[in-house]
Amino acid sequence: MKSPTTDSKPIYLPSDAIQKRAYIASLDEYLEIYNASIKDPVKFWEKIATDFFWKTKPAGPFLNYNFDLNKGNIFIKWMEGATTNICYNLVDKTIQDGYGDKIAYYWEGNEPGEQKQITYQALLKAICKCANVLKGLGIKKGDRVAIYMPNTIEAIVAMLSCARIGAVHVVVFAGFSANALAERIIAAQAKLLITADGTFRGTKFIALKSIATQALMQCKGAGHPVSHCIMLKHLHTTQQIPEIPWDDAIDCAWERLMASASEVCAPEWVDGEDPLFILYTSGSTGKPKGVLHTTGGYLLYTATVFKYVFDYHPEDIFFCSGDLGWITGHTFNVYGALACKSTSVVFDGIPTYPDGGRFWDLIDRYKVTTFYTAPTAIRTLMQLPVSYVTKYSRASLRILGSVGEPIDPSSWRWFYEVVGSSRCPIIDTFWQTETGAPIICPLPGSTPLKPGSATLPFWGIVATIVDEDGIEIIGRGKGHLVIKNPWPGMARTIDGDHQRFQATYFEPYHGYYYTGDGAQRDADGYFWITGRTDDMLNCSGHLISTAEIESVLMQHPSVAEAAAVSALHAIKGESIHCFIVLKQEQLYNEIMESEIKSIIRNQIGAFAVPDLIQPVPALPKVGSGKIMRRLLRKIVRQEGHLGDTSTLVDPNSIDQLRGLILNKAKML
Ligand code: PRX
Repeated sequence: MKSPTTDSKPIYLPSDAIQKRAYIASLDEYLEIYNASIKDPVKFWEKIATDFFWKTKPAGPFLNYNFDLNKGNIFIKWMEGATTNICYNLVDKTIQDGYGDKIAYYWEGNEPGEQKQITYQALLKAICKCANVLKGLGIKKGDRVAIYMPNTIEAIVAMLSCARIGAVHVVVFAGFSANALAERIIAAQAKLLITADGTFRGTKFIALKSIATQALMQCKGAGHPVSHCIMLKHLHTTQQIPEIPWDDAIDCAWERLMASASEVCAPEWVDGEDPLFILYTSGSTGKPKGVLHTTGGYLLYTATVFKYVFDYHPEDIFFCSGDLGWITGHTFNVYGALACKSTSVVFDGIPTYPDGGRFWDLIDRYKVTTFYTAPTAIRTLMQLPVSYVTKYSRASLRILGSVGEPIDPSSWRWFYEVVGSSRCPIIDTFWQTETGAPIICPLPGSTPLKPGSATLPFWGIVATIVDEDGIEIIGRGKGHLVIKNPWPGMARTIDGDHQRFQATYFEPYHGYYYTGDGAQRDADGYFWITGRTDDMLNCSGHLISTAEIESVLMQHPSVAEAAAVSALHAIKGESIHCFIVLKQEQLYNEIMESEIKSIIRNQIGAFAVPDLIQPVPALPKVGSGKIMRRLLRKIVRQEGHLGDTSTLVDPNSIDQLRGLILNKAKML
C-alpha cells in the first residue's frame, strides 16, 4: 500500500496480509520494544538468551564494556564466563526440539539440475564427522582453520565443525587470488586449509585447488607451513579442466577422511566471549582487517535479527544469494538461519546463468518465501527483458531483502513492483562485517518503507549522526553515522591488532562506534545511507580500499605513482578508475594495461580489476604531497563543480587532467 508523505515522497505501508502473520505488526509495538531494549539492554538480551542452551550461566556481569577511548581501552564482553556451543544450539537443539527431519538446506549448483538437500539430522552427522576429521588432524580449541570453498553444504559443514570443537574458522571468499588467500592464512596463522577441486561461476572455471596450492607454497615460503589441505571433490563435469595439483605430504581427500570418521562428536563447551570466526574485510591502509566475532553475543544477535527482520516462521523458505565467503553468508546462510530452525536455499551459481531467469526459477521451484540479495544483482537483472521475471509466478514470495550497498529508489521500485508484484515489503538492511548483522533496517509488519532508506535502527542499537567535530546532530541532518552503545553481535577486535580496532572505529569520534559511512536523517528519524566517507570503494558490494589497489598498481615496474577512485556505475554501483604516472620514458600501451590488470587479478582477485586505467602526466596533489583523490573522484563522476582547488600544487593542471579523463571515459 502506497501513500504520499509530507515531502511528497511515497511511503509504502505494510499490507494487511504481511501484518496478519507478523511477529511485530505495528510501529508502536516496534517502538515499545525498541525503547525497552535501549533502556535496559541487559534485561532485553538476557530474556532472549533464555531461548538458547547454556552449559553454565555468566560468571560475572551479562554485559561489560568500555566504548570511550577517553576512559581507557575499548572492550565489549557479553556473557563472559557463560559456556555454550553455538553448533549445539543451532543443530542438536533443533533436533531435540523435534525438527530432525526438517530440511536445513536445499542446495543448487551452478548447472541447473545439480541439487542436494540435507535434513538437520543428516547435517549433525556430517558436522560430527568433519569435526572428528579436524580433531584427527590435530585441530584443537582456539586453532584457526581456513576455508576456501564454493557455496556448498560442505562449506557450511566445515564452518560448523570448527564451531563444534571450538576452532576458529577463517572463510576466504573463493573469488580471491592465491596471494590474497596466502595473506589471510598467514595473518590468521591458520593451521589447516579446507578447499575443493574447483568450481564454475557461469561458464567461468575457478581452479580452487591450484590457487590453494599456490597459496600454500607462499605460506611455506613465508615461514608458515600449513599442516594439511583437505580437498572436497566438487566438480562433476565432463568439460576439460586443467590438472589438479596434489601433494601426498599435505593433501587429503575430504571423501576419504569423512568416510571413516565417527558420526558422534561431543561439543566443546566454550566461553560466551571465545572467538567463533575471523573474517577479513578491507581496511583503509590496504592491509585487510581480520574482524573477529565471538560466540554468545553473535548467537543472540543473529538469531534475533533473522527472526524479526525477515519475520521468519518455521514454515518459511529463505534464500540468500550472498556467498558464504562474506558476512552475509555467515550470518544469514548459517548462524542466524539455523538458530531459527530455518530451511534455506544455498545457491552456487550466478543470477544470469544459464539465463537471467535463474533466481526466479529457483524461487518457484523451492517455494521461496524470503529472498535476500544485493542491489548489484537487482540492477543486473532489471536491464534484462522483464519476461525473464514474469515467466515465473513468484507466488510463494512474502518478503524481499537487500544488502551491501545503497539501493537506489528506481531499483527498489523494480524489485518491489516487478519481482514482488507490489505485495512484498523490501527490507533494506544496512550493516557491515563488523556489525555482525543488520543494525538499521525495517521490520516487515511494522515499518512504513521509503525507497532508498534503510529506515530505523534495530532493537538495541542507538544510531545517530555526528558532524566533523564529533558533535551529535539532533533531528534532521547529514553527518557521519555512529552507534552510541554496544550490541551483542558487534566485532570485538581486529585479530592481532586491537590498536587498529580502536583507531578505526573508536578514535574518530570518542564515545561512539564509527561506521565509516555517511548518513542523512529525515524528519521521521529515518536513516538514508549516503555511502563511505573514508577511502573505501564499494564495487558490486565488495568493499575495497583505494590503498589496497594502489599498492598493487605500484608493483608494475613502469608505474611511478598511482591513485584509485570510484566512478558511478549503472550495475556495479561503483566501478574502479585508476590513474597512473609512468616512470620516465615508459609508454603506455595495451600490453602494459593487461599486465597491470593481471597483477590486480593475481594479487586481489578478478572483482577488483579496474574499469579504467588512465596514464596521466601528474596526479593532483597538495603541497604536503597528499593526492587529492576527492578531485579525481569528482572528475570521473563528471561533477561540474570541483570545489576549492587552490591548495593544489599546480591548479592549472586540473583542466588538462579533466580533458584526458573525460575523453577516455567516453570511449568506455
Ligand atoms: O558502506 C556500507 C555498505 O557496505 C559496507 C559494509 O560492507 P561489508 O563489511 O562488506 O558488509 C556488506 C554486507 C553487510 C557499509 O559500510 N552497505 C551495506 N549495506 C548497506 C550499505 N550501504 C547502504 N545501504 C545498505 N543497506
